[in-house]
Amino acid sequence: MVDFKTIIKDFPILKRRINENKLIYFDNAATSQKPKVVIDALSNFYSNNNANIHRGVHTLSMEATYLYDEAKEKIAEFINAPNNNSIIFTRGTTESLNLIADSWGQSNLKESDSIVITELEHHSNIVPWQELIKKTKSKLRYIPINTDGTLNLANINNIITKNTKLISMTHVSNGIGTINNIKKIIKIAKSVGATTVIDAAQSVPHMPIDVSDLDCDFLTFSGHKMLAPTGIGVLYGKKELLESMPPYQKGGDMILEVTYDKATWNEIPFKFEAGTPNIAGAIGLGAATNYLMKIGMQNIRDHEIEITKYAYNNLMNVDGIEILGPENTDIRAGLISFNIPNIHPHDLGTFLDSKGIAIRTGHHCAMPLIKKLGHHSSARASFYLYNTNHEVDKFTAEINNSIKYFNNV
Ligand code: ALA
Repeated sequence: MVDFKTIIKDFPILKRRINENKLIYFDNAATSQKPKVVIDALSNFYSNNNANIHRGVHTLSMEATYLYDEAKEKIAEFINAPNNNSIIFTRGTTESLNLIADSWGQSNLKESDSIVITELEHHSNIVPWQELIKKTKSKLRYIPINTDGTLNLANINNIITKNTKLISMTHVSNGIGTINNIKKIIKIAKSVGATTVIDAAQSVPHMPIDVSDLDCDFLTFSGHKMLAPTGIGVLYGKKELLESMPPYQKGGDMILEVTYDKATWNEIPFKFEAGTPNIAGAIGLGAATNYLMKIGMQNIRDHEIEITKYAYNNLMNVDGIEILGPENTDIRAGLISFNIPNIHPHDLGTFLDSKGIAIRTGHHCAMPLIKKLGHHSSARASFYLYNTNHEVDKFTAEINNSIKYFNNV
């Protein structure tokens, strides 16, 4: 039994006071806070093992290589990837998606082909495909959403067709929290022979993910949203697909042999990790993965369901509030996006900050989605393992105070 009340002690930053109030950090969909074990892993690496990897015969280089490879093994285990070489370290989800679009996309798409995404996507899972269709003259099609922010699959057989070569979709919407039935879509994709990409930036940190069970072709996520440092992320890909793809960037480590005339490519994962990678970041991600595995991803998901239900019910009592996305926590992650009449989300965010509460406000890098739902922006509270119902109480009370405050100014 995990005691989530004591977890806060593992996170030094959560002791901070912001504007004379104890920090309540509800901006976890943007980035998560870091436990001491991750901070220590970085500090230990730089204090004791720092060197470049895969290059030296000296002790430090071998230690650094060992730690980097060990982190990769841990991550393969975490998402149940059949092969460590299927894990490519990138800067984050954005770079992973760009890698697929540039490398797989440019060599596999032709004019009659289409790419299918959904109306729920983050800009990172829209813009690379918009640019790719310009180069390949292929088409971009969208699976539409219902007014509650769930996917509308009524017409799915007219959207995913034999011309569909790629389906790229988010598992969890960062804007409104919808959890998509990715297994169902992956099955439909397979029936037409399409390749599948899952943007798991908002799901891998918060729930158990098993790529072997999902049977997706690619899956992408970011370290910084799962307790690790910024600038490190993952592209998982099926081995035979990654082996068939050309490199994304060219430089050191990704080559087998270079002459003055030409070069040949190294095997995966090296082919996709040109240049000195974020070694410390990878080791930090390994430490974060270890920490999360010890707590258990299902325990974290259950904890977030409890907080989300509690917050949803509390917020529903706030005068005039409009909550975006589905109510049911079977299909809603630990995230609540909302608007309050006559209070701009930025004003609400600033008011809450004055009480020590951090939320995100704006379009959440999902501009088309927020517009489609009839808004220009929203306020978004997103939860993680260290948040509590007690914090939700304070959050709701301060939202009610903000209504009084803004109606009086
Ligand atoms: N994608 C991150 C968010 O949703 C930055 O806030």
